[in-house]
Amino acid sequence: MGEHDTPEALGVQSEWIWGNDLETIVFAQVFGHGKTLIFRFTLDSKQQPQSLTTRIVNCYHDPTVDSASATLPDRPSMRTAIWSAIAAVWAKCSEQPAIKDPDVIIDVYDTVSTDLPSRITHGGLTSLTRLGQLGGRGCTTLVHPVSNPESQFVFKGIDFRTFLNLYESGHIKEEVKIYYRSVELVSSMPPHPNIMAPANALVTICKTGDDRPVVCGTLHALLPNGNLGDHIEKNNDSGEQIPLSCKALWCYQMAAAIAHTHFVAHTYHMDVKPGNFLVDADHNLVLIDWEQSDAPISTAAPEIDDTWDVEEIPAEGLTTTLRYTKYTGPERRNMPENTPGNSGWNVWNVFPVWNDQCPKALELAEVFSLGRSMWMLLRQPDMNAFEDITRTTEVVEDWASSDDIPAHWKKVVQDCLKHSPNERISLRELVKFRDSARHEVKTNGLSS
Ligand SMILES: Nc1ncnc2c1ncn2[C@@H]1O[C@H](COP(=O)(O)OP(=O)(O)O)[C@@H](O)[C@H]1O
Ligand SMILES: [Mg+2]
Repeated sequence: MGEHDTPEALGVQSEWIWGNDLETIVFAQVFGHGKTLIFRFTLDSKQQPQSLTTRIVNCYHDPTVDSASATLPDRPSMRTAIWSAIAAVWAKCSEQPAIKDPDVIIDVYDTVSTDLPSRITHGGLTSLTRLGQLGGRGCTTLVHPVSNPESQFVFKGIDFRTFLNLYESGHIKEEVKIYYRSVELVSSMPPHPNIMAPANALVTICKTGDDRPVVCGTLHALLPNGNLGDHIEKNNDSGEQIPLSCKALWCYQMAAAIAHTHFVAHTYHMDVKPGNFLVDADHNLVLIDWEQSDAPISTAAPEIDDTWDVEEIPAEGLTTTLRYTKYTGPERRNMPENTPGNSGWNVWNVFPVWNDQCPKALELAEVFSLGRSMWMLLRQPDMNAFEDITRTTEVVEDWASSDDIPAHWKKVVQDCLKHSPNERISLRELVKFRDSARHEVKTNGLSS
């Protein structure tokens, strides 16, 4: 690709490439000059197999093709072809008034059309401008209201790209349901200083020709210091240790947020990891991301795959213990058929089941996730190393370069991470320990 036919040369950014389930379309999204544009490349059986759009679609979906000329040599060539094609049509597209419409899709043929397919009527954000994608699974976006370009907010919800992406797989209804449920959950939860407050505003869309607004997202205040996972990475990149007093405070705040979730709100989080704790302006942690639909492989407790059942049974004195039994019945599913992900909990999710039948088991599962998250904070390992793991048991919690971490803190992390849930420290004990540890750092000056 020559330097003039890249999106970057036009001052726009290539953001996403995705395909449809029928394997006949490839979409690509670019962002720049205050606009987010989605381009569509369609396999057209009437076209010559060598047409560029057909080769792009074939390369993306990788069906068996008769000749090498019906596809492209590899993914990098495909990306180059997509971005070059977009760069080539960009100038012409930008002149079209229709480009400003929020629900526009630009079909890229040999010529360009901006005609909207009639079946797509969902719009994007009519009075918000996207400023860029934030981390996570992709629907969390930095935006500013058109009327006030100076202010910035975080949009979370179902954007147009997500809608297009999930519409065809049939998962869009489920995704909307999950999202609405999370908004309701946060709105009805008693407040806690380490849990993100409910959204400031709802974002709505109207279908063309219909003035009834539909909620498609929420707007949140932008917290300036990012998430804890990124914070750890940033410190690692610059070779710095996060101060021990900060680690002490944040370990306490993580545990306090989860204790509130279980003991006051009587629910669970399911996605406890450093990336879901934001660092606010006063350097306190706040827990976000309440979809309760997927768990992070890097911090998930081993027993939450789909193979265990559990019950709480009386033990010595007034105590109880948990009895786990391997499930041997026919295949079972409580998650929708087309749920993304390959983990056991994407098929049989124990969280809602145990929340009703055995909340103690969920408490201990989240103690494990807290232990992993605390280890990540205290040890500051390379956070990128967790992106490719396929099982939680692949993570090895070593304590290299952690001489400044007190031995009793390390022991309590190990107590959270016991393979057998019955041997783990309870959530109440964990909060108590972390509460006294943060005071200990303050009064004894353990701070590094
Ligand atoms: N209010 C906010 N302020 C600043 N950054 C945020 C805010 N909300 C989310 N983010 C960033 O976006 C990322 C993804 O948001 P999250 O709600 O966790 O969505 P996902 O379901 O995609 O993981 C977070 O890890 C954080 O970096
Ligand atoms: Mg998240």
